[in-house]
Amino acid sequence: KIATENFFLQLMASCFAVLLESIPCLTCLKICATLCQNNIFVPCFAGTKETAFIYAVTSAGLVHSVTRSCSAGNMTECSCDMNLRHGGSASEGWHWGGCSDDIHYGMSFSRKFLDVPVKNITGKSGSGLAAMNLHNNEAGRQAVAKLMSVDCRCHGVSGSCAVKTCWKTMSAFEKIGRFLKDKYENSIQISDRLKKKLRRKEKSQRKIPIGKEDLLYVNKSPNYCVEDQKLGIPGTQGRECNRTSEGPNGCNLLCCGRGYNTHVVRHVERCECKFVWCCYVRCRRCETMTDVHTCK
Ligand SMILES: *[C@@H]1O[C@H](CO)[C@@H](O)[C@H](O)[C@H]1NC(C)=O
Ligand SMILES: *[C@@H]1O[C@H](CO)[C@@H](O)[C@H](O)[C@H]1NC(C)=O
Ligand SMILES: *[C@@H]1O[C@H](CO)[C@@H](O)[C@H](O)[C@H]1NC(C)=O
Repeated sequence: KIATENFFLQLMASCFAVLLESIPCLTCLKICATLCQNNIFVPCFAGTKETAFIYAVTSAGLVHSVTRSCSAGNMTECSCDMNLRHGGSASEGWHWGGCSDDIHYGMSFSRKFLDVPVKNITGKSGSGLAAMNLHNNEAGRQAVAKLMSVDCRCHGVSGSCAVKTCWKTMSAFEKIGRFLKDKYENSIQISDRLKKKLRRKEKSQRKIPIGKEDLLYVNKSPNYCVEDQKLGIPGTQGRECNRTSEGPNGCNLLCCGRGYNTHVVRHVERCECKFVWCCYVRCRRCETMTDVHTCK
């Protein structure tokens, strides 16, 4: 068993690399920025929706991994959800059993480790920026809670499923990540002037409530497509892209609609090698041509 504080440091070191690769603006939270320089392409600017996403993913990731470790029996402070044991509905033929994931410990752990530094980094919790970051941290945790599901296993003669054992389980982190990415794409701009509570920036929409799982941002994102040395944005001109990919490295997305150039690159390599008696290998030189695309 390991103590959660060490666990936290290990986790920050891995920095959720998979998810961070899935959006155009990529950086880690300030907390771990020095630990994961490989992931840093472009700084995320305070208050933008990219930052909102990173805060939410980080906080969801923390809940998820702490909870998984609790269920695996690896943590000193937590384990499976014991409250559910022995419950269920005999008349409907199922009961709770196995190990249900208990996210409560992970939730409070994430609040303690992520919310306190946010208050420190972004200033008084009365500011719009701090309120935004705290809301997005919570949105990540709520996503894990919302996507909890129930798994069951059948018992009974030859798979009749007369009796079922069920347990609560978290969704795979990829699913939580997709959910948050959807929230990122539909994130809501809020006013940076707090009037007791968070308000939408768009006055005509202020009546529409802000959900616990919505991602919020204060500042418009800079244009990541175009180089801006002052802001440290490299732009995407000249970047190699993949013509057939729909993902973030695809020419469509990466070149921001400007199109791309195609160069033919010649490779020469040894090929059709034959063993010649005795004792050497004779090869031919083969040329292959590959298309390389770079953004205009
Ligand atoms: C629990 O600890 C074991 C042994 O160190 C490790 O192999 C396993 O991956 C851990 N499980 C989780 C979910 O952290
Ligand atoms: C918050 O900032 C204060 C003053 O800079 C510092 O003493 C304290 O340790 C910080 N707390 C956390 C949790 O980072
Ligand atoms: C480009 O993307 C396609 C589809 O995602 C993939 O099959 C292919 O291997 C990629 N090509 C390169 C050169 O990465």
